[in-house]
Amino acid sequence: MKITIVGAGNVGSTCAQIIVDRALANDVVLLDVVEGIPQGKALDIYQSAAIQLSDTKIHGTNNYETTANSDIVVITAGVPRKPGMSRDDLLSINSDIVSMSTKAVVAHSPNAIIIVVSNPLDVMTYVSFVNSHFPRNKVIGMSGVLDTARFKAFICMELNISIENIQAMVLGGHGDSMVPLVRYSTVAGIPLDSLLPQDRLDALLDRTRNGGAEIVKHLKTGSAYYAPAASIVQMIDAIVNNRHRIMSCCVYLTGEYGHHDVCLGVPVKIGRTGMEEIVLIDLTPEEKAALDKSANDVKAQIKSLRNLQKAKEQGKENGTKEQAKTTVK
Ligand code: NAI
Ligand code: 2OP
Repeated sequence: MKITIVGAGNVGSTCAQIIVDRALANDVVLLDVVEGIPQGKALDIYQSAAIQLSDTKIHGTNNYETTANSDIVVITAGVPRKPGMSRDDLLSINSDIVSMSTKAVVAHSPNAIIIVVSNPLDVMTYVSFVNSHFPRNKVIGMSGVLDTARFKAFICMELNISIENIQAMVLGGHGDSMVPLVRYSTVAGIPLDSLLPQDRLDALLDRTRNGGAEIVKHLKTGSAYYAPAASIVQMIDAIVNNRHRIMSCCVYLTGEYGHHDVCLGVPVKIGRTGMEEIVLIDLTPEEKAALDKSANDVKAQIKSLRNLQKAKEQGKENGTKEQAKTTVK
């Protein structure tokens, strides 16, 4: 098993460290555009393996050749939103990074399963899926596992009950319109809504929806990475160990839950071949309406990205025409 992580930032390097600690692969490759960072972090993690007694080998690189024949590739590359940068700017920049990374990954590892992490997650999963030309079972976005983990953690804090007793599910896009499903959440098999009054439930749902922002507010200069990295590793573990595990993941829909041509968080079964099946569960009209709203938000972002790309191409074309005119003169 060879696992590549593209982007040696906070999420990528933490993910690499957990994989090495748990010896989930024979080889791990950490790749970044910045020279020295993946090499330094990989060497540091390699040395930690001597203490963890893990035989996993890890290498840092700036070159996709080192990633050749990876079985799993995690894409965490991207830039954070900086002051003065609009959501559209971020969408456009990260989309270029994810499409370029995906093409390079596919050229060197045609049989890999890609796990997308870069934000905005649902659109980046779509960008990676489209650019990979892979079947949809091999391009999976990570967000539902994290959003579900946050929901579970908040239930655990509220009820002071072992995390082992808690089952929960969060569907939809990785944003304000995510859909935590109370009806499918239980504590030792007991429905969650019979254990908590509505106002406390609403507070937990609200905190889950704002789980990422709450951490950014504390950190100020970055976003969460311990729980995101643990979430990625849970997906990797399901693939490596062929667990056929049901988890909420972002995948390309072709009509499931009434949506086409969009990537969205839905319950899927994960095993050695990636996404083995999309699990269809009954939704009440209210739950379905919430999922539809989330899907429509993602579709609007995809449309906005297409318009940005068209405008960019038009700009380039006009630039070339102008240049040609200047050359002729
Ligand atoms: P970070 O800023 O620490 O790391 C990003 C890394 O990507 C940097 O090291 C940067 O040099 C690298 N990079 C930039 N362009 C690249 C390229 N073309 N090729 C290779 N590497 C490149 O950010 P962090 O905290 O690690 O987060 C990474 C991404 O994951 C962000 O987009 C973040 O918003 C997202 N994220 C998504 C989550 C989810 O639930 N899906 C959860 C947490 C983070
Ligand atoms: C999070 O939810 C930033 O998407 C990231 O923490």
